[in-house]
Amino acid sequence: MRIVQPAEQVDMARNKRLLNRYRFIEYETLRILAAWLPAAARMEFKLAMGRFLWEEAQHVQLLYQRLREVQTPAFRPPDDPALETLMAEAINAPDARSLLAGIFRVIKPALLNAYRWHRQQTFANPDAPTLYALKHILLDEEEHLAWAAAEFGGQPAGEWELYLARLLAHAGGITGAEARAAKPAPAPARVPFQTPLTAARDCRFTLLQRHWGDADSRRQSDAAARRLDEFENYSQEMLAAETVALIMHLSPNMPWGFVYDSARHCYDETRHCLLGIEWLRQHGLEYTAVPQNTRIYQWRAQYDAATQYCLLTRGNEAHAFPHRRRSLAQYQAAGDRLSAQYVSYDMADERQHVAYGTKWLPTLMAQNNIDMPVEQFIEETVALWQREYVSGDLPLPAEAGAAS
Ligand SMILES: [Fe+2]
Ligand SMILES: [Fe+2]
Repeated sequence: MRIVQPAEQVDMARNKRLLNRYRFIEYETLRILAAWLPAAARMEFKLAMGRFLWEEAQHVQLLYQRLREVQTPAFRPPDDPALETLMAEAINAPDARSLLAGIFRVIKPALLNAYRWHRQQTFANPDAPTLYALKHILLDEEEHLAWAAAEFGGQPAGEWELYLARLLAHAGGITGAEARAAKPAPAPARVPFQTPLTAARDCRFTLLQRHWGDADSRRQSDAAARRLDEFENYSQEMLAAETVALIMHLSPNMPWGFVYDSARHCYDETRHCLLGIEWLRQHGLEYTAVPQNTRIYQWRAQYDAATQYCLLTRGNEAHAFPHRRRSLAQYQAAGDRLSAQYVSYDMADERQHVAYGTKWLPTLMAQNNIDMPVEQFIEETVALWQREYVSGDLPLPAEAGAAS
């Protein structure tokens, strides 16, 4: 019998190396999008980023499921400082538009090409699980590129994109197999990323710097006013997405399961915001006319990640159900099917968010050096939520300092 030499260029060892690179790039992209979500001012960007980061989480999950079959531990650094530099630098964009252009017009097109090439070059039957993962990831990535093509159109590549392209070339491309270019000097446009402690909004919005309270606390006995109020509040739920995104950014050492759940949590809140936007439009109203209470984000952001997570999941989210159930009954009684459907789906998501809180709070507490029984921490944090949020005060540390 003769020895058959296979034509496939991706053997198993190379497959592992490549999957580690892809997993790393997808994961870092997810983290960069989360980090920037509160800092990006344009609402359309925020809504898109929520979806993208959740889809990146699906990609990491698919790659993780394959990687854990071929190596232990499944998550490994790519073992290529140049690739790590590329992803470490991609966050330091001068503005949100450049950031997205860098990711979606430099990194992603190269990644998509690598996935397509990989599909041709791996052993089709023996490595079928990888092919399945790549096939499904590609469906999303093609949509991401289409989004970028529509968003950035014929705009020429800016200085930031050229810098990332040089860093990518320095890493030998996505696969690392291309001839490596010299390491580029940092782009003059580079701005070291800083944790966003305020939530940015574009100039269409007015900002409300106090707590509104829910419809009941505003004594809206009129059903129509209460209904409008509820969906105006939905259109502000970007604030919850921004807090989840900040918690993700502040918690780089949490297990993958937390990042995966939080990506969904963040995406859900952007969808709840969109649900409010769509409801208002369906009723002839423009969502940008609703003032955005960005102080809520700023108030939460003064606390450590575990406290923020507890304020959100055990304060706001756990306490929203009686109000929502009342709304649902009201909409059903009035034959308002649209509002009833929106609230029903929202409640299904929110039940998951409260469950995420229960699941991850102990680990997040440990990572934030909070050493007390979980139940006590929840009790104290909900009391803080009552005192500072439900009261409508939303105190900020700078103001407390100025007053003393
Ligand atoms: Fe929500
Ligand atoms: Fe939620």
